[in-house]
Amino acid sequence: MSLENQNILSAYEWLTKLYHHLLRFTKDGKEGYSYFKDRGVMDESIDEFQLGFAPNVKDFTAEFLVKKGFHQQLLIKAGLVTLKDDNSVTDRFRGRVIFPIRNHLGKTVAFGARSITDQGPKYLNSSETELFQKGKLLFNFDLAKRYIRKESEAVLFEGYMDVISAYQAGVKNVVATMGTALTESQAKLLKRYVDTVILCYDGDRAGLEATYKAANLLRSVGCIVKIAKLNEDMDPDSFIKENGAEAFQNEVIKASDTFISFYMRFMKQDYNLSVEGDRINYIATILNQLAMIDSPVEREYYVKELSNEFDFSMDTLTDEIQTIRQKKG
Ligand code: CTP
Ligand code: MN
Ligand code: MN
Ligand code: MN
Ligand code: MN
Repeated sequence: MSLENQNILSAYEWLTKLYHHLLRFTKDGKEGYSYFKDRGVMDESIDEFQLGFAPNVKDFTAEFLVKKGFHQQLLIKAGLVTLKDDNSVTDRFRGRVIFPIRNHLGKTVAFGARSITDQGPKYLNSSETELFQKGKLLFNFDLAKRYIRKESEAVLFEGYMDVISAYQAGVKNVVATMGTALTESQAKLLKRYVDTVILCYDGDRAGLEATYKAANLLRSVGCIVKIAKLNEDMDPDSFIKENGAEAFQNEVIKASDTFISFYMRFMKQDYNLSVEGDRINYIATILNQLAMIDSPVEREYYVKELSNEFDFSMDTLTDEIQTIRQKKG
């Protein structure tokens, strides 16, 4: 590793400790501490995830690190401070709670910083560096790895708080993509450790669309995909807050859908099923997907579902699937 990168890691390490200490033990970090308390984060989790608080002071961080001997230029490169026109520096994170983003070896390589008021963008993250490429990293992979391996199953979320809440609730094989679309590199990383990935994105429209894309990508690298179901207005964190850990385990994680069930549900939004033509097109779309399943038992299971819902005989649907399969060879 270059000397510069070693110094960046060192700066992040100092700051992780400082922000965490401020939040946990000082008056200056009290707002941050109360924020996490209000959201139900326990001290144990605050410590495990090294959650912190960056005070609302223009150059608190810059000053601290320069005193420690870090060059200003390095701090800019590390994505921690920005340079103003008058050559002065300003901290990137001010008056925000801090989520250290650790690489797969457990070293902090970036921060996610959340506003604790309604002002400003909800999250700010460190800018990308050689050490922090959002698309190559999964939040919490270092802690989750042993649980992921043990269960040969990983749960994938959108965000920081989803991971922390689930982990705290005892579901520990959990990682997140930090809001951006899952990349091939992240999918392959997961595939190295698991057979099955449970996708558990937010229940809103954006979450649903992202789920469909992520599911296809994960399947293309050879993962079995299951899909957790959340109401429109829920994300995993809010579900846990409202319904508790046990309900999350039983009603969300264990009750997750197969990809095909999700697909049947997801595709419905593109069709008006009270119109005959749409209904037929929808069924054709689903049959095409079912034709790709190699197991006859599995095919029959979904054919039965379709047959019940749309009042076509199982024979007709099965014949249709056979025709599609023959055409595809
Ligand atoms: N995110 C981001 N920048 C934003 C919004 C979101 O980096 N402006 C990332 C964060 O990693 C966030 C994730 O995308 O955790 C999911 O976004 P969202 O669902 O909007 O946030 P939550 O994680 O639900 O955050 P909270 O519960 O704190 O509102
Ligand atoms: Mn979201
Ligand atoms: Mn949101
Ligand atoms: Mn969310
Ligand atoms: Mn949330």
